[in-house]
Amino acid sequence: MSFANWYNRTLNKIWGFVEDRTSMRRWALRAQPEFSFKPSYWTGGFVVNAFLYQVVSGMLLLLYYQPSTGTTLTACGQAVGTQSAAPAAWCSTYYIVHSVPMGSLLLTSHLYGAYAMIFLMFVHFFRGYYLGVYKAPREFSWMIGTLLLITTLGMGFTGYLLPYTQISYNATNVGLVLALRLPTFGPLLGPLILADGTSQGLLSRFFDAHVLLLPLALGALLYAHIALFESHGIAPPATSDPLQRRRYTEKDSKGHVPFMPHIFWYITKWGLLYVGVLLGIAALWPWTLPTYVGNLAAVQSVSEPDWYFLWLFKFVDFAGVTPVIAVGATTVLIVYVLFLPFLDRSKRTHPRDRPVFIWLATSLLGFFIVMTVWGGETPGVQITPPLVAMTIGPIFAVNAVVTALFHWRYARSYRRRLAARTPTFPGVYAAPDAPPGSGTPLATTEARPHDG
Ligand code: HEM
Repeated sequence: MSFANWYNRTLNKIWGFVEDRTSMRRWALRAQPEFSFKPSYWTGGFVVNAFLYQVVSGMLLLLYYQPSTGTTLTACGQAVGTQSAAPAAWCSTYYIVHSVPMGSLLLTSHLYGAYAMIFLMFVHFFRGYYLGVYKAPREFSWMIGTLLLITTLGMGFTGYLLPYTQISYNATNVGLVLALRLPTFGPLLGPLILADGTSQGLLSRFFDAHVLLLPLALGALLYAHIALFESHGIAPPATSDPLQRRRYTEKDSKGHVPFMPHIFWYITKWGLLYVGVLLGIAALWPWTLPTYVGNLAAVQSVSEPDWYFLWLFKFVDFAGVTPVIAVGATTVLIVYVLFLPFLDRSKRTHPRDRPVFIWLATSLLGFFIVMTVWGGETPGVQITPPLVAMTIGPIFAVNAVVTALFHWRYARSYRRRLAARTPTFPGVYAAPDAPPGSGTPLATTEARPHDG
């Protein structure tokens, strides 16, 4: 028997044993269609992988981290060669980087892991936006996803302060000025975030939020998000057909790929690859700890947040944009994303059929990328109105032209295809009465007055 055969048989035996003793199939998620075996269908699963790595690495960091602003004259203060004493929060971080075995790798991978989780979450978000997965019956999945997005960014915001470096302290203060100007929520959040007004109070609240409150909220939201995913099934490919069925019933599960072990291992395989790449990058480019809060040499340092908030910092640099305006615009953006499923009411999910929403998404994506790079290059530098118009205006204008051209081009070819009655997605979520394997109703229905 070849090694591969022996290996597979052994794995099957072990798996059979585990399944027999646990009835795992019954508490696993439902089976999914074959077409979902592509990474793009599991972007949310990749975010879960990244989150799990954050939980494990975060718990290891907790073994050493001290959430205290009390100064200490321990070895770390002497090691950095200063006369002044460093806060314990910074010192314990210094200790993790320099004295804990593999501490630098652990801390760096936790930091880069946070970046990766946020990046993957945006990929998941934009994929859902472009392919219209927020449409009925997935409106609540989308809304809970928006809350997950805010909570994840909150994790990043609170975690940034914990090493207690001067640069993170400055940026947190700017962020707080903005957050406390939120309409209605700002005044309510004030006492909750600022505690007794001391720096220790602030650090304690950030620590509590980062290691307990926000992870609990994220866990609860994630549970609801996945429960909804389980009840609707995976969203089918985007389509121009308003009649294509978008809910996936238990009956459809028969003949599909079971979650345990196939889909579970599929996502786990990607998860292991993720951890390998993350550790490799963290080992090659370890993070260097900036100087601590209160170090005289650092007083002149600029305030610079992590990359995912740079766009907002740059926005405040625009002439005439006050913190109230910046916070107001962010609130409008959040409300837009939250209620998107109720704004985009058409039943078609294909991007070619939603030019206005696609234009807005692509323009906002361009806006965020430009603002992030700009914020990183020239933090705190004032921007005049003509420069704003020259830089931001073309993003929206060029996108409008490109989206209009694509809409016009593909709407025409779609009409041609409809006339020729060619099937587009055979075998996927056929209409309830369609014969098996006949695929999307595009293939089987007459052109309707609203088509094209
Ligand atoms: C911490 C952040 C998030 C996590 C861990 C997460 C996790 C997941 C998972 C595991 C799924 C199942 C399908 C898949 O793996 O892609 C899913 C689906 C979904 N997510 Fe998320 N998600 C997050 C954020 C978001 C955000 C920000 C949105 C949008 C605002 C969103 C909207 C959706 C929707 C609509 C579905 C159903 C899509 C489908 O059936 O293909 N999620 N999410």
